[in-house]
Amino acid sequence: MNAQIMARELLEKLGMQTSMDSVGNLIGVREGTDPQLAPVAVGSHLDTVPEGGNFDGVLGVASAIEVMRAFDDDRVNTKRSLQVICFACEEGSRFGVGCIGSKFMVGELSPDDAEKIRDLNGLTLPQCITKIGLPGRPVTVRGKGDFSAYVELHIEQGPVLETLGKTIGIVTGIAAPTRLLVQVKGMTGHVGTVPMKTRKDALVAAADIITGVESIVRRTDDNGVGTVSRIDMKPNTVTAIPGSVNLWIDLRYLNENGRTACIAEIKRLVADVVSKRQLEIDLTVLTNERATSLSPRVIETITQATNALGYASIEMASGAMHDAAHMARITDVGMIFVPCKNGVSHAPEESADPRHFEDGVNVLYKTLMALAA
Ligand code: HGY
Ligand code: MN
Ligand code: MN
Repeated sequence: MNAQIMARELLEKLGMQTSMDSVGNLIGVREGTDPQLAPVAVGSHLDTVPEGGNFDGVLGVASAIEVMRAFDDDRVNTKRSLQVICFACEEGSRFGVGCIGSKFMVGELSPDDAEKIRDLNGLTLPQCITKIGLPGRPVTVRGKGDFSAYVELHIEQGPVLETLGKTIGIVTGIAAPTRLLVQVKGMTGHVGTVPMKTRKDALVAAADIITGVESIVRRTDDNGVGTVSRIDMKPNTVTAIPGSVNLWIDLRYLNENGRTACIAEIKRLVADVVSKRQLEIDLTVLTNERATSLSPRVIETITQATNALGYASIEMASGAMHDAAHMARITDVGMIFVPCKNGVSHAPEESADPRHFEDGVNVLYKTLMALAA
């Protein structure tokens, strides 16, 4: 949470009014000349994944603050107010659910949902918020018309821009995650005494599922990706047969048919493994979000800004999820990507070339000028 506090100090140093809501979203306001007009929002998130990098999310927030500072330097007065938003809990790291801050802000999560969202120690979101002394002020839910547009600058988190030698990615759509939990319930026992033919080894069954998911995703849809990205097993000791294994599967599809076909095939795979291994397997759909198309108006504005600056750009989809996908439920949204080294993200090696930040900030500056003029 100290990142939010630091961002708040930077915004207040620019003379911007700040507020923080009860799920930890931080908002800084730069007043426009016509308060009747709906503001333009800009931002990203400051939280990260365990062993994450220093740019995912942070770049978008730092760039938004930098543009506010540059507007002050250049004595820019926009008609529309500008709101810098640092969304809370974009990564699913702590609560297993992603984009919590933006989902609350656009009403996709309601206050009583907050009671159901627990971290790995069983603490609910409100309990965590009060524990760090945040104001209990409820989230102000925004609806259509409350913003005129939202723009987010982000590292691409993939290899496309760097491979093609492009400076700017103009995002057209955002794939959405489907998250599945597979609980394999076998029978533990002594590794030395239980005959092979009577075993119900949960890890061997899980291995069938892991390799099966990979081949299903490879054959359903070229643009879909799927990963068994987390595994928990018990008792997880070398002299005991694995009795239970939990697998978390993350799927990303832009195309709904591809996603639906993939989920159906995974369900069939689970049924096949149950009959082959004669053990119990539960499959739960944790989240199944819709893919998002971004706003042609904002895409065009970003394109004009990029071309005016003479940067090489490409239109592209985002395989990673972003708060922008939820803001798109209530306003026109655009995203600006800059390259990251070797396309690596969600890892300590995540890095990017500072010249690309400058290019991204320049495009963001021009885009916000045009949207808030
Ligand atoms: O899951 C995602 O794509 C995002 O990085 N939280
Ligand atoms: Mn991110
Ligand atoms: Mn991320």
